[in-house]
Amino acid sequence: MTSLLFPGSFDPLTRGHKDIARRASKICDKLYVVVMNNNKKTYLFDLDERVQMVKEVLGEYENIEVLGSDGLLVDIFKDLGCNAVVRGIRSESDFRYEAEMALANKMLCPSYDVTLLPCRDDLSLISSSLVKEVGSYGGDISGMLPAQIVDKVNERLRKGRT
Ligand code: COA
Repeated sequence: MTSLLFPGSFDPLTRGHKDIARRASKICDKLYVVVMNNNKKTYLFDLDERVQMVKEVLGEYENIEVLGSDGLLVDIFKDLGCNAVVRGIRSESDFRYEAEMALANKMLCPSYDVTLLPCRDDLSLISSSLVKEVGSYGGDISGMLPAQIVDKVNERLRKGRT
């Protein structure tokens, strides 16, 4: 059985992330989507809230399991016994970032490997930061997010404006 691990902050999960999860789920028997923390970022939603939102969006896929972890990626990778990690790339700069992360993770765990999926052209400009920036000014973010979480994200961003 092949299993892949798709980690990310998902603050919030965008349509770009959803597309990567959907495609990754087709090339393995089991896909673990793991919501994690990147200590360089500050978050709009805490870890549990992000896990709940990702579950809501990806619940329709039978071979996807959503988990949360505030530890190291290599630790959960080893614990779950995955074949590789999967990440989406939108640009050359994403590629450079992913290559550096992969090297660092491989130093920590020699069996670590990563599969990079190029994202869809029409989703390549979406990022969680863009969603938050546009939404914080009251702009329309519905085209960037899975429908299930648009209201939740708008509501949280509205609180920040008051
Ligand atoms: N594919 C990938 N990223 C996409 C995307 C797509 N199709 N579409 C949009 N993006 C954006 C995201 O929205 C996000 O944008 P933002 O920076 O504006 O928020 C950015 O690309 C990447 O975010 P995300 O995929 O959520 O991951 P991340 O870079 O925040 O998280 C972790 C990286 C969590 C995997 C990493 O920090 C980690 O491994 N943490 C655990 C601790 C650890 O082991 N650290 C050592 C690492 S060497």
